[in-house]
Amino acid sequence: MVLLFLHMSDTGPIGVFDSGYGGLTVLREITKLLPQYDYLYFGDNARAPYGPRSFETVYHYTLQSVEWFFKQGCSLVVLACNTASAKALRTIQQNDLPNIAPEKRVLGVIRPTTERIGELTTSGKVGVLGTNGTVKSQSYLIEIKKFYPDVEVFQEACPMWVPLIENNEYETEGADFFVEKNLKNLMRQSPDIDTVLLACTHYPLIKDKIETFLPGHVKVVSQGIIVAESLAAYLLRHTEIEKKCSKNAQVSFYTTDSAEDFDRNGSTFYGKPVQSKHLNLEV
Ligand code: DGL
Repeated sequence: MVLLFLHMSDTGPIGVFDSGYGGLTVLREITKLLPQYDYLYFGDNARAPYGPRSFETVYHYTLQSVEWFFKQGCSLVVLACNTASAKALRTIQQNDLPNIAPEKRVLGVIRPTTERIGELTTSGKVGVLGTNGTVKSQSYLIEIKKFYPDVEVFQEACPMWVPLIENNEYETEGADFFVEKNLKNLMRQSPDIDTVLLACTHYPLIKDKIETFLPGHVKVVSQGIIVAESLAAYLLRHTEIEKKCSKNAQVSFYTTDSAEDFDRNGSTFYGKPVQSKHLNLEV
């Protein structure tokens, strides 16, 4: 009995975090590629969107969420949110982890994507679409430069897209107006852009629409598959973390807002029904 307890507490699910629903587009690809693991998804819907919030606030919320994952037994947490990855990941990895949980790991979505983006462009001109927070952080510019110094990056913040998607208003003329406007702004910066990265976890939901407003030869890249492949490679390289990840193919969902709302809206992002529980982080 004691042995069984020790064994069970030794392993835990892989944590997947987002400010709300968007990370479900990433989890969807991760569970397709790595269905054997257990996953714990947590959307901080009550405090979303993170995009317009300050560095300090996003860092504080993200750290609080990471600590919650650790208490649930996760040894590995993926920040499936560009804004949290841009504004909080580095500080958590460098300053907090060594003190609170040196044996645990937190990964983001920016590095896996920037590692690959240079393979996808022929013209060497890449467009990045994201929230205000992600664009202002310059994280994509900095990271892409590290891996592909010759690639030129052009950014466009699309602050209206997340609210339109969250409010299920993305199939409307109003949404078309903002999508067209932001894409024109992006392409105006360089007509040679041949690859456009959706650097926000919500945007894959409107990938088809985005494609209709771009020249036919422009590749539109979602992050989900790239992040899933990068996680698979990480688990192969880091067996000390991999063996702490439980494998019963279970996925659980938590939200800081209404579970009913999460279940109703979340399935659009996840592509399958979701059943969540409400979580009060302050308790
Ligand atoms: N999930 C966030 C991202 O990928 C977008 C939503 C938000 O602003 O909270 O940047």
